[in-house]
Amino acid sequence: MDSSEQLSLAEKVISPEKAFNNIILHINGAKTDLTPYYYSENAILFNNDCLDILSRVPENSIDMIFADPPYMLSNNGFTCKNGRMVTVNKGEWDKSKGFEEDTLFHDTWIQAARRVLKPEGTIWISGTYHSIYQCGYLLQKNGFHILNDIVWFKSNASPNLSCRFFTASHETLLWAKKEKKARHTFNYGEMKNGYFPEDKLKKENTQMRSVWSIPAPKNSEKEFGKHPTQKPLDLLLRIIKASTHDGALILDPFNGGGTSGIAAKLAGNRFYIGIEIDAGYCELSAKKFEKFYRKVLNENNI
Ligand SMILES: C[S@@+](CC[C@H](N)C(=O)[O-])C[C@H]1O[C@@H](n2cnc3c(N)ncnc32)[C@H](O)[C@@H]1O
Repeated sequence: MDSSEQLSLAEKVISPEKAFNNIILHINGAKTDLTPYYYSENAILFNNDCLDILSRVPENSIDMIFADPPYMLSNNGFTCKNGRMVTVNKGEWDKSKGFEEDTLFHDTWIQAARRVLKPEGTIWISGTYHSIYQCGYLLQKNGFHILNDIVWFKSNASPNLSCRFFTASHETLLWAKKEKKARHTFNYGEMKNGYFPEDKLKKENTQMRSVWSIPAPKNSEKEFGKHPTQKPLDLLLRIIKASTHDGALILDPFNGGGTSGIAAKLAGNRFYIGIEIDAGYCELSAKKFEKFYRKVLNENNI
């Protein structure tokens, strides 16, 4: 039995807290100079390239991955925000390097994500048409089984300035499981009977459908500043409540402003590993995490 098999076996009998700490020790073990940007008893944030950290996470150790990778849509175009014309550019990280190179980027991180997921684990990928078809193709190419494609309808989307095509008002979220035959987590009852006041399409006590109407992040979610592609907390909370169980280990390789990390905390007894390459966005996330997570003494000296 190799070390990752031993770890996986041990996780079945040890607490989620212990499993979380084991993973962190494992990540840190191979690189002693690795200092997390933020650490609390339930959450850790690394300011690194996700490929670097993912390569240190033990195989088959993560319950759910939420990934909101660069959309590659920063093409110098314009959009309308609060009645003003603004650039669509989000940052250098969101610029396309051409179809082949963008596809290779997505292929590489999707393979790295697959390795760390448990066999029954699931992955969510969000995107627009600029990237989501590549990601959907690559999920299937790499052996994932697609469970749903969710339309996130942005009920307050910005108008289209060119008036030459339809106004973009949705993003797509792909939900897929690692192994087709494994039993994944879906909290059906919580989705059917839960309270979703933000969603004008969800009727009380009816099955949750695959079109979700959720407005852009509220002002209260930008209290410490905002990330240019920040997702609404309600969206991430729904994803986490739907597809993870108590004690689940959740990983986000493109943490951005930390929405998934906060949702993991609000969903109750979840463990979160975030990875973000940009130090400024780590700082923004850390400020938010400070508000939601109880910081603990660094017992593991990491
Ligand atoms: C679409 S945004 C994520 C937004 C996030 N979901 C939120 O709600 O705030 C993608 C993020 O991935 C980061 N990123 C890009 N390449 C990365 C890489 N190789 N490793 C880690 N983070 C990366 C970018 O800096 C950016 O913050």
